[in-house]
Amino acid sequence: MQLTRLHIENLRNIAALELALAPGLNVFIGANGAGKSSILEAAFLLSHAQSFRAGSVDDLMRRGQVRMAVAATHLHKQGEKTSALIRENSRWIARNDHTEATQISTVIREVTVVCFEPGSHELISGAGRGRRGFLDWGVFHVEHAFLAAAKRYRRVLHQRNAALKRAAGDHELDVWDSELARAAEPMERMRRDYFARFAPRLVETLGQFLRELGDSTIEWEYGWSETIGLQEVLMQRRAQDRMRGHTSRGPHRADWTIRFARAPQRVHLSRGQEKLCALACILAQARVHADACGEWPVIALDDFGSELDLDHQHRILEWLRQGCEQVLISGVEVPDALRHESSAARVFHVEHGGLRGLL
Ligand SMILES: Nc1ncnc2c1ncn2[C@@H]1O[C@H](COP(=O)(O)OP(=O)(O)O)[C@@H](O)[C@H]1O
Ligand SMILES: [Mg+2]
Repeated sequence: MQLTRLHIENLRNIAALELALAPGLNVFIGANGAGKSSILEAAFLLSHAQSFRAGSVDDLMRRGQVRMAVAATHLHKQGEKTSALIRENSRWIARNDHTEATQISTVIREVTVVCFEPGSHELISGAGRGRRGFLDWGVFHVEHAFLAAAKRYRRVLHQRNAALKRAAGDHELDVWDSELARAAEPMERMRRDYFARFAPRLVETLGQFLRELGDSTIEWEYGWSETIGLQEVLMQRRAQDRMRGHTSRGPHRADWTIRFARAPQRVHLSRGQEKLCALACILAQARVHADACGEWPVIALDDFGSELDLDHQHRILEWLRQGCEQVLISGVEVPDALRHESSAARVFHVEHGGLRGLL
Protein backbone atom coordinates (compact mmCIF):
# COMPACT_ATOMS: atom_id res chain seq x y z
CA MET A 1 0.00 0.00 0.00
CA GLN A 2 0.93 3.64 -0.36
CA LEU A 3 -0.06 6.75 1.46
CA THR A 4 -1.00 9.32 -1.14
CA ARG A 5 -2.01 12.14 1.23
CA LEU A 6 -1.21 12.59 4.87
CA HIS A 7 -2.95 15.21 6.97
CA ILE A 8 -1.58 16.07 10.42
CA GLU A 9 -3.14 18.40 12.95
CA ASN A 10 -1.75 19.35 16.37
CA LEU A 11 0.79 16.56 16.62
CA ARG A 12 3.93 17.70 18.53
CA ASN A 13 5.16 20.90 16.82
CA ILE A 14 2.94 20.42 13.76
CA ALA A 15 -0.10 22.70 13.88
CA ALA A 16 -1.49 21.70 10.49
CA LEU A 17 0.25 19.98 7.61
CA GLU A 18 -0.96 18.38 4.41
CA LEU A 19 1.48 16.22 2.46
CA ALA A 20 1.17 14.72 -0.99
CA LEU A 21 3.38 11.63 -0.85
CA ALA A 22 4.98 9.89 -3.81
CA PRO A 23 5.25 6.17 -4.50
CA GLY A 24 8.78 4.93 -3.80
CA LEU A 25 11.13 7.07 -1.74
CA ASN A 26 10.01 10.12 0.24
CA VAL A 27 12.80 11.85 2.14
CA PHE A 28 12.19 14.36 4.95
CA ILE A 29 15.17 16.53 5.78
CA GLY A 30 15.64 19.40 8.19
CA ALA A 31 17.34 20.56 11.37
CA ASN A 32 17.02 18.81 14.73
CA GLY A 33 13.61 19.46 16.20
CA ALA A 34 12.10 20.50 12.84
CA GLY A 35 9.35 17.85 12.99
CA LYS A 36 10.69 15.10 10.68
CA SER A 37 10.17 12.21 13.11
CA SER A 38 6.75 13.61 13.96
CA ILE A 39 5.68 13.16 10.33
CA LEU A 40 6.77 9.50 10.40
CA GLU A 41 5.10 9.19 13.79
CA ALA A 42 1.80 10.44 12.33
CA ALA A 43 1.90 7.75 9.63
CA PHE A 44 2.81 5.10 12.21
CA LEU A 45 0.00 6.27 14.49
CA LEU A 46 -2.56 5.38 11.82
CA SER A 47 -1.48 1.74 11.91
CA HIS A 48 -0.74 1.30 15.62
CA ALA A 49 -2.78 3.93 17.51
CA GLN A 50 0.42 4.59 19.43
CA SER A 51 3.80 6.13 18.79
CA PHE A 52 7.07 4.30 18.23
CA ARG A 53 8.55 6.61 20.87
CA ALA A 54 8.13 6.31 24.64
CA GLY A 55 5.38 8.26 26.36
CA SER A 56 1.62 8.24 26.25
CA VAL A 57 -0.49 9.04 23.21
CA ASP A 58 -1.61 12.26 24.84
CA ASP A 59 2.00 13.47 25.00
CA LEU A 60 1.86 13.66 21.22
CA MET A 61 -0.79 16.34 21.33
CA ARG A 62 0.60 19.77 20.58
CA ARG A 63 1.01 21.61 23.88
CA GLY A 64 -2.00 23.72 24.79
CA GLN A 65 -4.34 21.97 22.32
CA VAL A 66 -7.30 19.70 23.08
CA ARG A 67 -7.65 17.87 19.78
CA MET A 68 -5.15 16.04 17.59
CA ALA A 69 -5.92 14.44 14.22
CA VAL A 70 -4.11 12.32 11.66
CA ALA A 71 -5.78 11.32 8.42
CA ALA A 72 -4.56 9.67 5.25
CA THR A 73 -5.67 8.64 1.82
CA HIS A 74 -4.11 5.29 0.98
CA LEU A 75 -3.90 3.42 -2.23
CA HIS A 76 -4.41 -0.35 -2.38
CA LYS A 77 -4.80 -2.82 -5.21
CA GLN A 78 -8.55 -2.50 -4.77
CA GLY A 79 -8.46 1.30 -4.92
CA GLU A 80 -8.22 4.28 -2.62
CA LYS A 81 -9.44 4.46 0.99
CA THR A 82 -9.28 7.06 3.72
CA SER A 83 -8.64 6.63 7.43
CA ALA A 84 -8.64 9.13 10.26
CA LEU A 85 -7.80 9.03 13.94
CA ILE A 86 -8.85 11.92 16.12
CA ARG A 87 -7.82 12.26 19.73
CA GLU A 88 -10.04 14.30 22.01
CA ASN A 89 -10.57 14.11 25.79
CA SER A 90 -8.10 11.21 25.97
CA ARG A 91 -10.29 9.14 23.66
CA TRP A 92 -10.02 8.08 20.04
CA ILE A 93 -12.53 8.77 17.35
CA ALA A 94 -11.74 6.55 14.37
CA ARG A 95 -13.08 6.87 10.83
CA ASN A 96 -12.91 4.68 7.76
CA ASP A 97 -13.92 6.40 4.56
CA HIS A 98 -15.54 9.20 6.61
CA THR A 99 -17.74 6.76 8.56
CA GLU A 100 -17.18 6.55 12.28
CA ALA A 101 -15.94 3.12 13.35
CA THR A 102 -17.08 1.56 16.61
CA GLN A 103 -13.71 -0.17 17.04
CA ILE A 104 -10.39 1.55 16.46
CA SER A 105 -8.95 -1.82 15.32
CA THR A 106 -11.03 -1.72 12.14
CA VAL A 107 -9.28 1.53 11.19
CA ILE A 108 -5.72 0.63 12.12
CA ARG A 109 -6.09 -2.65 10.26
CA GLU A 110 -6.49 -0.70 7.00
CA VAL A 111 -3.12 1.04 7.21
CA THR A 112 0.14 -0.82 7.66
CA VAL A 113 3.27 1.11 8.49
CA VAL A 114 6.41 -0.41 9.97
CA CYS A 115 9.12 1.84 11.37
CA PHE A 116 12.80 1.60 12.19
CA GLU A 117 13.94 4.39 14.50
CA PRO A 118 16.80 5.21 16.90
CA GLY A 119 15.13 3.27 19.76
CA SER A 120 14.47 0.12 17.68
CA HIS A 121 17.45 -1.76 19.20
CA GLU A 122 15.22 -2.29 22.25
CA LEU A 123 13.34 -4.86 20.24
CA ILE A 124 16.49 -6.97 20.65
CA SER A 125 17.95 -5.77 23.96
CA GLY A 126 14.72 -4.96 25.79
CA ALA A 127 12.18 -7.11 27.65
CA GLY A 128 10.09 -9.87 26.06
CA ARG A 129 6.97 -7.69 26.12
CA GLY A 130 8.34 -5.62 23.21
CA ARG A 131 9.07 -8.72 21.11
CA ARG A 132 5.63 -10.18 21.86
CA GLY A 133 3.95 -6.91 20.94
CA PHE A 134 5.96 -6.70 17.72
CA LEU A 135 5.01 -10.22 16.68
CA ASP A 136 1.37 -9.79 17.71
CA TRP A 137 1.05 -6.66 15.54
CA GLY A 138 2.19 -8.78 12.58
CA VAL A 139 -0.28 -11.56 13.43
CA PHE A 140 -3.09 -9.03 13.89
CA HIS A 141 -2.52 -7.69 10.38
CA VAL A 142 -2.56 -11.07 8.63
CA GLU A 143 -5.00 -13.02 10.84
CA HIS A 144 -8.30 -11.28 11.37
CA ALA A 145 -9.40 -13.61 14.16
CA PHE A 146 -6.31 -12.90 16.25
CA LEU A 147 -7.50 -9.80 18.06
CA ALA A 148 -10.63 -11.48 19.43
CA ALA A 149 -8.60 -14.53 20.50
CA ALA A 150 -5.96 -12.39 22.23
CA LYS A 151 -8.63 -10.31 24.00
CA ARG A 152 -10.37 -13.44 25.22
CA TYR A 153 -7.09 -14.83 26.56
CA ARG A 154 -6.37 -11.51 28.35
CA ARG A 155 -9.82 -11.53 29.92
CA VAL A 156 -9.52 -15.08 31.26
CA LEU A 157 -5.95 -14.41 32.45
CA HIS A 158 -7.22 -11.38 34.35
CA GLN A 159 -9.95 -13.50 35.94
CA ARG A 160 -7.53 -16.27 36.96
CA ASN A 161 -5.17 -13.66 38.46
CA ALA A 162 -8.06 -12.12 40.40
CA ALA A 163 -9.01 -15.59 41.70
CA LEU A 164 -5.40 -16.20 42.80
CA LYS A 165 -5.30 -12.86 44.61
CA ARG A 166 -8.46 -13.51 46.57
CA ALA A 167 -7.26 -17.03 47.48
CA ALA A 168 -10.13 -18.74 45.67
CA GLY A 169 -10.52 -22.48 46.30
CA ASP A 170 -9.15 -25.29 44.14
CA HIS A 171 -12.49 -25.98 42.61
CA GLU A 172 -12.75 -22.46 41.16
CA LEU A 173 -9.12 -22.49 40.00
CA ASP A 174 -9.70 -25.80 38.21
CA VAL A 175 -12.29 -23.96 36.14
CA TRP A 176 -9.96 -21.04 35.36
CA ASP A 177 -7.06 -23.36 34.48
CA SER A 178 -9.19 -25.16 31.97
CA GLU A 179 -10.68 -21.90 30.57
CA LEU A 180 -7.23 -20.35 30.24
CA ALA A 181 -5.79 -23.39 28.45
CA ARG A 182 -8.76 -23.31 26.09
CA ALA A 183 -8.42 -19.57 25.44
CA ALA A 184 -4.67 -19.95 24.84
CA GLU A 185 -5.07 -22.53 22.10
CA PRO A 186 -6.27 -20.41 19.10
CA MET A 187 -4.05 -17.45 20.01
CA GLU A 188 -1.04 -19.68 20.36
CA ARG A 189 -1.77 -21.45 17.08
CA MET A 190 -2.04 -18.17 15.16
CA ARG A 191 1.17 -16.88 16.72
CA ARG A 192 3.04 -20.04 15.84
CA ASP A 193 1.74 -20.08 12.27
CA TYR A 194 2.91 -16.50 11.90
CA PHE A 195 6.26 -17.29 13.47
CA ALA A 196 6.74 -20.18 10.99
CA ARG A 197 6.48 -17.61 8.17
CA PHE A 198 8.46 -14.92 9.96
CA ALA A 199 11.50 -16.96 11.09
CA PRO A 200 12.77 -18.00 7.61
CA ARG A 201 12.26 -14.45 6.28
CA LEU A 202 14.22 -13.12 9.23
CA VAL A 203 17.07 -15.59 8.74
CA GLU A 204 17.23 -14.56 5.08
CA THR A 205 17.29 -10.83 5.93
CA LEU A 206 19.89 -11.27 8.68
CA GLY A 207 22.05 -13.10 6.15
CA GLN A 208 22.03 -9.96 4.01
CA PHE A 209 22.56 -7.38 6.77
CA LEU A 210 24.75 -9.22 9.29
CA ARG A 211 26.53 -11.92 7.32
CA GLU A 212 29.69 -11.25 9.39
CA LEU A 213 27.96 -12.96 12.35
CA GLY A 214 27.45 -16.24 10.50
CA ASP A 215 24.27 -18.31 10.27
CA SER A 216 21.35 -17.35 12.48
CA THR A 217 18.62 -19.37 14.14
CA ILE A 218 15.38 -17.99 15.56
CA GLU A 219 13.80 -19.75 18.51
CA TRP A 220 10.28 -19.52 19.77
CA GLU A 221 9.78 -19.77 23.54
CA TYR A 222 6.26 -20.81 24.41
CA GLY A 223 5.98 -19.30 27.87
CA TRP A 224 5.55 -22.71 29.48
CA SER A 225 7.09 -26.15 29.22
CA GLU A 226 6.13 -27.18 25.72
CA THR A 227 6.24 -30.92 26.44
CA ILE A 228 3.28 -30.65 28.82
CA GLY A 229 -0.11 -29.10 28.10
CA LEU A 230 -0.82 -25.65 29.56
CA GLN A 231 -3.63 -26.86 31.81
CA GLU A 232 -1.30 -29.32 33.51
CA VAL A 233 1.44 -26.71 33.86
CA LEU A 234 -1.03 -24.30 35.49
CA MET A 235 -2.00 -27.04 37.92
CA GLN A 236 1.64 -27.74 38.77
CA ARG A 237 2.37 -24.04 39.26
CA ARG A 238 -0.74 -23.30 41.30
CA ALA A 239 0.99 -23.11 44.69
CA GLN A 240 3.65 -20.67 43.39
CA ASP A 241 1.04 -18.67 41.48
CA ARG A 242 -1.06 -18.36 44.63
CA MET A 243 1.94 -16.94 46.50
CA ARG A 244 2.75 -14.47 43.73
CA GLY A 245 -0.85 -13.56 43.01
CA HIS A 246 -0.43 -13.94 39.26
CA THR A 247 -0.12 -16.56 36.53
CA SER A 248 3.55 -17.31 35.91
CA ARG A 249 3.20 -19.49 32.80
CA GLY A 250 1.30 -19.15 29.56
CA PRO A 251 1.43 -17.43 26.17
CA HIS A 252 1.57 -14.05 27.94
CA ARG A 253 5.17 -15.06 28.76
CA ALA A 254 6.10 -16.16 25.22
CA ASP A 255 9.25 -14.76 23.64
CA TRP A 256 11.59 -15.35 20.73
CA THR A 257 15.37 -15.09 20.39
CA ILE A 258 17.90 -14.71 17.64
CA ARG A 259 21.19 -16.59 17.87
CA PHE A 260 24.13 -16.23 15.53
CA ALA A 261 26.93 -18.74 15.00
CA ARG A 262 29.39 -16.00 16.00
CA ALA A 263 27.18 -14.34 18.65
CA PRO A 264 25.23 -17.04 20.46
CA GLN A 265 23.91 -14.69 23.15
CA ARG A 266 22.25 -11.30 23.01
CA VAL A 267 25.03 -9.73 25.11
CA HIS A 268 27.50 -10.57 22.34
CA LEU A 269 25.94 -8.01 20.02
CA SER A 270 27.16 -4.44 19.77
CA ARG A 271 24.59 -1.64 19.83
CA GLY A 272 25.06 -1.21 16.09
CA GLN A 273 24.45 -4.93 15.51
CA GLU A 274 21.35 -4.80 17.71
CA LYS A 275 20.07 -2.01 15.47
CA LEU A 276 20.71 -4.03 12.33
CA CYS A 277 18.98 -7.04 13.90
CA ALA A 278 15.98 -4.89 14.76
CA LEU A 279 15.89 -3.48 11.25
CA ALA A 280 16.05 -7.02 9.83
CA CYS A 281 13.09 -7.99 12.06
CA ILE A 282 11.07 -4.99 10.88
CA LEU A 283 11.79 -5.59 7.21
CA ALA A 284 11.19 -9.35 7.54
CA GLN A 285 7.82 -8.51 9.08
CA ALA A 286 7.06 -6.22 6.14
CA ARG A 287 7.98 -9.06 3.79
CA VAL A 288 5.73 -11.56 5.60
CA HIS A 289 2.90 -9.05 5.34
CA ALA A 290 3.52 -8.69 1.60
CA ASP A 291 3.62 -12.51 1.18
CA ALA A 292 0.39 -12.97 3.12
CA CYS A 293 -1.66 -9.96 1.98
CA GLY A 294 -0.28 -9.29 -1.49
CA GLU A 295 0.75 -5.71 -0.66
CA TRP A 296 3.65 -4.14 1.17
CA PRO A 297 3.36 -2.04 4.29
CA VAL A 298 4.77 1.48 4.13
CA ILE A 299 8.34 1.35 5.46
CA ALA A 300 9.46 4.28 7.62
CA LEU A 301 13.16 4.74 8.45
CA ASP A 302 13.71 7.50 10.98
CA ASP A 303 17.20 9.09 11.05
CA PHE A 304 18.33 6.50 8.49
CA GLY A 305 21.61 8.23 7.57
CA SER A 306 22.85 8.72 11.12
CA GLU A 307 21.77 5.28 12.40
CA LEU A 308 23.54 3.20 9.75
CA ASP A 309 26.97 3.22 8.14
CA LEU A 310 27.25 3.69 4.39
CA ASP A 311 27.80 0.01 3.57
CA HIS A 312 24.64 -0.95 5.48
CA GLN A 313 22.69 1.93 3.97
CA HIS A 314 23.52 0.45 0.56
CA ARG A 315 22.59 -3.10 1.62
CA ILE A 316 19.26 -1.86 2.94
CA LEU A 317 18.45 0.17 -0.14
CA GLU A 318 19.23 -2.90 -2.21
CA TRP A 319 16.81 -4.90 -0.03
CA LEU A 320 14.15 -2.21 -0.43
CA ARG A 321 14.46 -2.45 -4.21
CA GLN A 322 13.10 -6.01 -4.06
CA GLY A 323 9.64 -4.66 -4.52
CA CYS A 324 8.40 -2.60 -1.58
CA GLU A 325 5.99 0.15 -2.56
CA GLN A 326 6.68 3.21 -0.43
CA VAL A 327 9.46 4.27 1.93
CA LEU A 328 9.51 7.31 4.22
CA ILE A 329 13.02 8.33 5.28
CA SER A 330 14.00 11.13 7.64
CA GLY A 331 17.37 12.68 8.36
CA VAL A 332 19.25 15.91 8.96
CA GLU A 333 20.30 15.65 5.33
CA VAL A 334 19.76 13.34 2.38
CA PRO A 335 21.50 10.06 3.41
CA ASP A 336 24.84 9.48 1.66
CA ALA A 337 23.65 6.27 0.00
CA LEU A 338 20.83 8.21 -1.63
CA ARG A 339 22.83 11.13 -2.95
CA HIS A 340 23.10 9.66 -6.44
CA GLU A 341 19.47 8.71 -6.64
CA SER A 342 17.82 11.56 -4.82
CA SER A 343 16.24 12.50 -8.14
CA ALA A 344 14.24 9.26 -7.77
CA ALA A 345 12.92 10.47 -4.43
CA ARG A 346 10.54 13.19 -3.38
CA VAL A 347 12.43 15.40 -0.93
CA PHE A 348 10.57 17.47 1.68
CA HIS A 349 12.37 20.21 3.61
CA VAL A 350 10.88 20.31 7.09
CA GLU A 351 11.12 23.46 9.20
CA HIS A 352 9.29 24.45 12.41
CA GLY A 353 6.61 21.77 11.98
CA GLY A 354 5.89 22.74 8.36
CA LEU A 355 7.41 22.45 4.91
CA ARG A 356 9.92 25.05 3.76
CA GLY A 357 8.55 27.00 0.89
CA LEU A 358 5.02 26.56 2.14
CA LEU A 359 5.46 28.62 5.30
N1 LIG B 1 3.56 17.77 22.72
C1 LIG B 1 4.33 18.64 22.08
N2 LIG B 1 3.88 19.88 21.78
C2 LIG B 1 4.63 20.76 21.08
N3 LIG B 1 5.87 20.49 20.64
C3 LIG B 1 6.37 19.27 20.88
C4 LIG B 1 5.64 18.28 21.61
N4 LIG B 1 6.40 17.16 21.69
C5 LIG B 1 7.54 17.45 21.06
N5 LIG B 1 7.54 18.71 20.57
C6 LIG B 1 8.57 19.38 19.75
O1 LIG B 1 8.34 18.98 18.42
C7 LIG B 1 9.53 19.18 17.66
C8 LIG B 1 9.65 18.12 16.61
O2 LIG B 1 10.22 16.95 17.11
P1 LIG B 1 10.75 15.82 16.12
O3 LIG B 1 9.72 15.48 15.13
O4 LIG B 1 11.27 14.75 16.99
O5 LIG B 1 11.95 16.56 15.39
P2 LIG B 1 13.05 16.01 14.36
O6 LIG B 1 12.76 14.59 14.09
O7 LIG B 1 12.92 16.86 13.14
O8 LIG B 1 14.36 16.20 15.03
C9 LIG B 1 10.66 19.28 18.67
O9 LIG B 1 11.13 20.61 18.63
C10 LIG B 1 10.00 18.97 20.00
O10 LIG B 1 10.54 19.71 21.05
MG1 LIG C 1 13.92 12.93 14.61
